Amino acid sequence: MKKKSSIEICLFPAAGYGTRFLPATKSMPKEMLPILTKPLIQYGVEEAMSAGMHTMAIVTGRGKRAIEDHFDISYELEHQIKGTSKEKMLADIRYIIDKCTFSYTRQKEMKGLGHAILTGQPLVGHEPFAVILADDLCVNEAEGVLAQMVKLYETYQCSIVAIEEIDPEQTDKYGVIAGVEIEPGIYRVSTMVEKPSPADAPTNLAIIGRYILTPDIFDILQQTKPGKGGEIQITDALMEQALQGKVIAYKFRGKRYDCGSIDGYVQATVELYNEMKDAY
Ligand code: UTP
Repeated sequence: MKKKSSIEICLFPAAGYGTRFLPATKSMPKEMLPILTKPLIQYGVEEAMSAGMHTMAIVTGRGKRAIEDHFDISYELEHQIKGTSKEKMLADIRYIIDKCTFSYTRQKEMKGLGHAILTGQPLVGHEPFAVILADDLCVNEAEGVLAQMVKLYETYQCSIVAIEEIDPEQTDKYGVIAGVEIEPGIYRVSTMVEKPSPADAPTNLAIIGRYILTPDIFDILQQTKPGKGGEIQITDALMEQALQGKVIAYKFRGKRYDCGSIDGYVQATVELYNEMKDAY
């Protein structure tokens, strides 16, 4: 098992409606969509575990009970396949269930990612914590993105966002940062804007769905007014920390698939299949 991390809790905001995948997401959470045989959220939990975290806090919403069932024992099914060749297909999920603690809370109204994170406060308490948006699937040959970010947190002791360079025409889909590059690929953030038009974007450095947040973010989120799209935006709250020099942006090593979009989802499925087909 990995050594204990300086960050123990990983929060998964998973209450969004996932409208881009309707009707599949009508009664099933987007986070349960599979890439090959594993649901997206399981990839996220595995990434958090490989960064040394074992407390998974999940913000769910109506119709998301499948997530809770996935991270629980299924006695009947396990009894049925015990001793058959299929038993090994549950080995990974059994390991996760054994090693991790899961807690859940419901976001009653979908008021945005910032609001979803604030809803998770009772599960997190007063510690620094990680956030994974499970629809951003990150793959690496060596170290997972969150594990890379935990190392950075140990140096900088402040909030950290993962970024990547995007096509400048796509800035209106992301939170975009600007800052001073203090080490190769590591920026001290001075500006953050949520979904700017290409003309207004300060750079093409976009925030992806991996964060490490210090717990003062909750007090800031309490005060954060609805921003872009009428939603409470985590980017706006992080900007408050950035004004104090307390946000680092990190160009992670690895590849991200935007599995919240059809294109990204299909690309992830095809590429992971090509890599792993021999195992099936
Ligand atoms: P997205 O905007 O990508 O997710 O939110 P969505 O709204 O579910 O998707 P579409 O656009 O309708 O297809 C990013 C992440 O934030 C969570 C989502 O579950 C997703 O993981 N989220 C968003 C919440 O938990 N609550 C919210 O109010 C909004």
